[in-house]
Amino acid sequence: MDLTGVDLTTEAVRTDRLVLRPHRPEDADAVFRACRDAETRRWLLALPEPYTRAAAEEFVTVTSPRGRAEGRDLSCAIEADGELVGSCGLHHLDDGRRLGPEVGYWVAPWARRRGYASEAARALADWALERGAPRVHLLADVGNGTSQAVAERAGFVREGVVRSCLSYRDGSRADAVLFGRLPGD
Ligand SMILES: CC(C)(COP(=O)(O)OP(=O)(O)OC[C@H]1O[C@@H](n2cnc3c(N)ncnc32)[C@H](O)[C@@H]1OP(=O)(O)O)[C@@H](O)C(=O)NCCC(=O)NCCS
Repeated sequence: MDLTGVDLTTEAVRTDRLVLRPHRPEDADAVFRACRDAETRRWLLALPEPYTRAAAEEFVTVTSPRGRAEGRDLSCAIEADGELVGSCGLHHLDDGRRLGPEVGYWVAPWARRRGYASEAARALADWALERGAPRVHLLADVGNGTSQAVAERAGFVREGVVRSCLSYRDGSRADAVLFGRLPGD
């Protein structure tokens, strides 16, 4: 993958309806409200428990910008009509040897079922493939049918099941469906 000339700290990706841009301090309120949603909490492995306003502030001002600054992640707010409707990211940009970049996403409960996650995931995969990534992957819990539908709508191909690769806050583990997109898909 060749990121010559790309400034990850400011990079934004535009689609028909969305702007995928760096998080800003003003995003904390919407992130806080969205990440208190039970469905978001059910599937996002890394969310602290309980989810506080301070955790949302830390995510938008420290964690998300740090991944960009260190060249690992393109972590983005999903903005539609000027409002934050979710977050998405391309992770492990510096891992050229194994599964390569990974796409992840959540959409706020008030903005679901409009195709935003599919549009964002497709755009991030396109971004990586256009810059020479040989593949982009995505993992969804075998029980998360909505996320699997998103992956397929974003052009990913179902590749198989990775057993016991997800670990949850309560100590349980789960199998995930592995999806991949290659330049020709
Ligand atoms: C998964 C998530 C990001 C989807 O966001 P979204 O913007 O609503 O997704 P989209 O609108 O692009 O696509 C959802 C589609 O999945 C389809 N779908 C929903 N549940 C489904 C199921 N159980 N099986 C198959 N398809 C399903 C819907 O038909 C919908 O398409 P439609 O509304 O056009 O009919 C959102 O529900 C979310 O944030 N969930 C919690 C966090 C999460 O699971 N993140 C992914 C972790 S891998």
